[in-house]
Amino acid sequence: MLAPTITVNGSAGTLSGVDPSTTALDWLRSRGLTGAKEGCAEGECGACSIMVARPGDDGGTRWTAINACLVPAASLDGGEVVTAEGLGSPQSLHPVQHEMAVRGGSQCGYCTPGFICSMAAEYYRPDRMPVASADEHDHELDHEHGPNGFDLHSLSGNLCRCTGYRPIRDAAYALGEPDADDPFAGRCLAAPPALTSTRQEGPTGVYVRPTSLAAALDLYAAHPQAVLVAGSTDWGVEVNIRGARAPFAIGIDRLPELRTLDVGEDVIEIGAALTLSEIERRLDGRVPLLAKLFPQFASRLIRNGATIGGNLGTGSPIGDTPPALLALEAVIVLASTDGERDVPLADYFTGYRQTVKQPGELIRAIRVPLPLSGTTAFHKIAKRRFDDISSVAVGFALDVADGIVSRARIGLGGVAATPIRALATEAALEGQPWTADVARAAAAVLRQEGTPMDDHRASAAYRTATLGTALLKLHAETATPQEVGA
Ligand SMILES: Cc1cc2nc3c(=O)[nH]c(=O)nc-3n(C[C@H](O)[C@H](O)[C@H](O)COP(=O)(O)OP(=O)(O)OC[C@H]3O[C@@H](n4cnc5c(N)ncnc54)[C@H](O)[C@@H]3O)c2cc1C
Ligand code: FES
Ligand code: FES
Repeated sequence: MLAPTITVNGSAGTLSGVDPSTTALDWLRSRGLTGAKEGCAEGECGACSIMVARPGDDGGTRWTAINACLVPAASLDGGEVVTAEGLGSPQSLHPVQHEMAVRGGSQCGYCTPGFICSMAAEYYRPDRMPVASADEHDHELDHEHGPNGFDLHSLSGNLCRCTGYRPIRDAAYALGEPDADDPFAGRCLAAPPALTSTRQEGPTGVYVRPTSLAAALDLYAAHPQAVLVAGSTDWGVEVNIRGARAPFAIGIDRLPELRTLDVGEDVIEIGAALTLSEIERRLDGRVPLLAKLFPQFASRLIRNGATIGGNLGTGSPIGDTPPALLALEAVIVLASTDGERDVPLADYFTGYRQTVKQPGELIRAIRVPLPLSGTTAFHKIAKRRFDDISSVAVGFALDVADGIVSRARIGLGGVAATPIRALATEAALEGQPWTADVARAAAAVLRQEGTPMDDHRASAAYRTATLGTALLKLHAETATPQEVGA
């Protein structure tokens, strides 16, 4: 195994001696790169944002902004990192830095290097296209995209307490295209950093990242208590806020066998180590229910790290993918040295943060059967519109043929110790006409599903009320005006 290496701002260096619990943020700052800041240490503020070179969709490289506070520095072995310092210098500002400076996008400056990195990743997004319209005011109709195609959601994980955001938006919308000789744009044309196997030992434990699924499963069989680390958006919070340490951690984020996405005739198979951003891009709306879920899941910064396998691996009752995947009747593919087994997601959760997963088993993929239902929705009730965990989440997948609900699948999160199917509501809908009366009657059944609790996110009564409202909303959005009024 080669000594761990990393390229930071174009200079190659070594990661030797870094402890597995040391975050990328702490490691960069210890090297004097203090632009990236710690605001929260739990993925909420974006002050720590950096850019990493990730595989693009076309064999090239994509600059991707992530939260440096959440990922172990060891996981960057073999990678390329760019911080705000590497983008430009006071004598030669990067276009993003220039626009932020001249438009008042920075006041106290604490958040600025993080904004700069998120903004630069969006600046280099390959499919960012200026809007075609000749009318410069047209973009005002869409409050989330600039005339230059800049997607404001790319900044949804960055907080600023000084500027009020308007100057930051002005800077983002003023950006042009990268110059022909822009080195960061040029880097995107070449292959991404190669996959390297990693082993880092430090005072708190060992971090190992194999390069094949077989090697990972052998390691996991030998160390069944090991922590699997994928995007580290959950694990990083455990490390920073709850002081968790892994005596043995296995990095699975780059395993090629966990990073495929296949669309077949009968099934779509999604690799467990694909990030939500990658799945969103690769599916490109192919699964409308998931397309409705993705923008509501955390922030772009988190979605750039968070994997779908990690969301199911936590066993959380308030993860956002389970309600949608339950409605889609998804199947989880579990892999171990004994081989693979398929488990319907409805049978996967066994109790609060408990699953059927056995020691030494990991999630290799998630399968979504085809064809998909025609009427789908994802309702997330949270305290903030973006970048918040659900109080309640509901995934709907209904087949409505000739005005009759021929099939109904409904997944719920946040109303029981595990994500659940709303079986009684499904039965109340199936075979019935999709009318306001039927929706009202079924909404009353839906309010009785689960065993909601009072907690700091919501009261049980509020959770119950939102369940019924979700079905009425679905009906109002999908039925004809006459049916809604009936
Ligand atoms: C600021 C913030 C906002 C968030 N917002 C949301 C939100 O809106 N909705 C939501 O659902 N979640 C949210 N999360 C939680 C988190 O981002 C997700 O659960 C994410 O999908 C976890 O994926 P990961 O790859 O980062 O997992 P990791 O942190 O790497 O791992 C999480 C757990 O899953 C296990 N694991 C990982 N991969 C596998 C696998 N392939 N097989 C078996 N076990 C595995 C790990 O061992 C670990 O126990 C948020 C987190 C933060 C920090
Ligand atoms: S320090 Fe706040 S997101 Fe990392
Ligand atoms: S400029 Fe002060 S926090 Fe953003």
